[in-house]
Amino acid sequence: MLSKKLQDAFNEQMKFEFFSAYLYMAMSGYFHAEDLPGFASWMRIQALEELTHGEKFFNFTCETGGRTLLQAIDAPTNDYASAIELFEFGLKHEKFVTSRINKLMDHAKKEGNHAAQIFLQWFVTEQIEEEANFSLILKKLKRVEGDGRGLLMLDQELGQRVFVPPAVGAK
Ligand code: FEO
Repeated sequence: MLSKKLQDAFNEQMKFEFFSAYLYMAMSGYFHAEDLPGFASWMRIQALEELTHGEKFFNFTCETGGRTLLQAIDAPTNDYASAIELFEFGLKHEKFVTSRINKLMDHAKKEGNHAAQIFLQWFVTEQIEEEANFSLILKKLKRVEGDGRGLLMLDQELGQRVFVPPAVGAK
């Protein structure tokens, strides 16, 4: 059973995950406009992943007797000076998500809510991957800065990413 405080915090995080999807969709639009379809596809898949993250909070809240309350989502940033600036922004965003998840974990521990802690553990692990992905692409972008051919090769590489939807019924 979720306490009212934890329920509110989970609803807030659900909104944040859906906002992340919105943000990455906007980034995908930026890359489409820049004629970098591989980057655009990578970001679209990132957006789809974020939707599944938001859904996880939705499902857990329902299953533990909480009340889901969907809130207004802010407009994301649509324009960036460069792909490097965009990925710097994305990495900063993911670090912020990590700090939010850690706070939620502290909160669940303080309340002695074991189920919430197990649920949040998935996100703690996921955030390691999220930060690593953005960090690696940012490093690669910096390495090919000013090299159009290198950028196109990176675009091809990122275009290989495939979306693997969570198994039906998976939490
Ligand atoms: Fe759901 Fe990228 O954090």
